Amino acid sequence: MTDRLGLGLTAAASAILALAVSTAAVQPAGKGARVDKTAFGTTREGQPVDLYTLANANGVTAKLITYGALLTELHVPDRTGQLADVVLGFRTLAEYEGGHPYFGATIGRVGNRIANAKFRLDGRDYALAANDGPNHLHGGLRGFDKRVWKGQVVPAPSGAAVRFTYASADMEEGYPGALTATVTYTLTPANELRLDYTATTDKPTIVNLTNHSYFNLSGEGQGTILDHELMLMADRFTPVGAGLIPTGEIAAVRGTPMDFTRATAIGARIGEVPGGYDHNYVLSHGGGVLAMSATARDPQTGRTMDVLTTEPGIQLYTGNFLDGTLTGKAGRAYVQHAGFCLETQHFPDSINHPNFPPVVLRPGAAYRTTTVYRFYAR
Ligand code: BGC
Repeated sequence: MTDRLGLGLTAAASAILALAVSTAAVQPAGKGARVDKTAFGTTREGQPVDLYTLANANGVTAKLITYGALLTELHVPDRTGQLADVVLGFRTLAEYEGGHPYFGATIGRVGNRIANAKFRLDGRDYALAANDGPNHLHGGLRGFDKRVWKGQVVPAPSGAAVRFTYASADMEEGYPGALTATVTYTLTPANELRLDYTATTDKPTIVNLTNHSYFNLSGEGQGTILDHELMLMADRFTPVGAGLIPTGEIAAVRGTPMDFTRATAIGARIGEVPGGYDHNYVLSHGGGVLAMSATARDPQTGRTMDVLTTEPGIQLYTGNFLDGTLTGKAGRAYVQHAGFCLETQHFPDSINHPNFPPVVLRPGAAYRTTTVYRFYAR
């Protein structure tokens, strides 16, 4: 008797195999890895929020909450093995609900700006929530960062993983189509935090998901990131005009303060950039395959982070609007430039720029992107 796999197994052997397979499927974490789930709090509206802790055998831990599918803590070693939490954030849900500039959050339905909070799709005009002057920013007044996602531990053969799912209603924040989005965070044995995004829709819509973690590789609350060295695999960027809306032009970085094609201290020429860096870089690999896109290194501790992404762009934001009024997990104020973000993305305001890679998602099509933050010390 042969089984459906065609392996020539007896019924008894197939039953044992099926049991072994199903046991493996519920085994949540790989060797030496761990996933824990605890309560994080209850929202003002009474929704419970869970905290998932992913840990690998090297002592690296990532903490994620179902509110905003948000990364609250990420502990990685320096060159002496000393761990530090390298992302900005808060200790309590009340602080996250109290308002903050997207620390660690999953951003959607469309990350970054849409000019005048308007777009046209298939001959119809849509008006979105205007939450950044006249423009739309990071999904609107109540974007994906302010929603409670469903968390689920998923099997990861050699790591630890949690998947968050959010069902966004038709016309939520003005976007057409009921959209289901997922983001799976996997902590690997190689000290990588991998983010896999998916989305599907029942009507044509636009999607551009990203993560808005602020990194400080010296440790959160340990001063500014101006001495961090940054290299971006991008020799072009999208210049912006009023309200940080792209002009549509794609310009070369060479010979300007925008140039990070070689490792350069973030602070080296930041004074020449009005307001600080808050720009989308056009990645040279063009997107579509997971490829090296950026490296940031803290010379003090040696902590280094590579960013790999399938996205065509990356927003360098240097925490320009932080002003010391928010206090982080260790009780220290987040001063201007206390962290930097490398938001992997499609370009800002893409829907209004036919020359930018498209962000339209149609029914039956699957949106899939991946970004990896990889940590080591040198
Ligand atoms: C934007 C900034 C904005 C920040 C949130 C970034 O992605 O580009 O302009 O202020 O997010 O505070």
